[in-house]
Amino acid sequence: MSFKPLLRAALSLLLCFATATLAFSQQSATAKGQPPKQNASSTIEQLTSRYEKSGREAYDRRQDILKAAAVKPGAVVADVGAGTGLFTMMLAEAVGPKGKVIAVEIEKRLVEHIAKRAKEAGFANVETAVCTERSVELPANCADMVFLCDVYHHFNHAKDSMTSIHRALRPGGEVVLVEFKRIPGKSKEWIVKHVRGGQEVFTAEIEAIGFKKVEERDFMNENYFVRFRKVDRK
Ligand SMILES: C[S@@+](CC[C@H](N)C(=O)[O-])C[C@H]1O[C@@H](n2cnc3c(N)ncnc32)[C@H](O)[C@@H]1O
Repeated sequence: MSFKPLLRAALSLLLCFATATLAFSQQSATAKGQPPKQNASSTIEQLTSRYEKSGREAYDRRQDILKAAAVKPGAVVADVGAGTGLFTMMLAEAVGPKGKVIAVEIEKRLVEHIAKRAKEAGFANVETAVCTERSVELPANCADMVFLCDVYHHFNHAKDSMTSIHRALRPGGEVVLVEFKRIPGKSKEWIVKHVRGGQEVFTAEIEAIGFKKVEERDFMNENYFVRFRKVDRK
């Protein structure tokens, strides 16, 4: 009897196990509030100058984005993937003292940074939460709007994250999505490489979870703006 096929089977089993273990440990690293790979070597100051610098369209057009979001005073808005808190602060101003912004981040140090920033700016209506790769970790029916700017394409488990967002939204709640236009041959090469899908792909994925596109605005060069409303899950 030849041992070669047995050896080959054992080796491939070992390889599968090693790959699965590696994937799991990478996932649980971010699940525990650690920075995702692309942010790991950056300080908060470096992230601030990356996200809050002129030349980044979401930053340059932040007032237009906020206006388009049409946040109502008194509303509860979850700023998911809040980064350094750029939009958290603007949303906190927009919802006013009767409203609330929940800044949700997968990175614990960013959550701590946002909490400090909100306190220093005098916003008592900002709460923070650390989430995981697969869930925003918010209670059911807690938010009127989920704001996602330059975040959806970072979701490694978009279906699970969006399912948890669906659950966190109240009936009729909305998702505001700001994402890169990904048009091969037209968009910048780094966008085509970095962003895994275009507007149609992301819209179809989000609608499949239990959302309906209700508004689309084209006022930016590199980004699009879409609003979805929560509907019953199929
Ligand atoms: C490009 S930044 C955008 C920050 C902010 N929304 C803005 O526009 O300034 C993307 C952020 O999403 C966060 N992120 C990545 N995966 C996430 C996930 N699964 N859940 C929540 N946040 C996530 C990252 O830590 C990062 O801070």
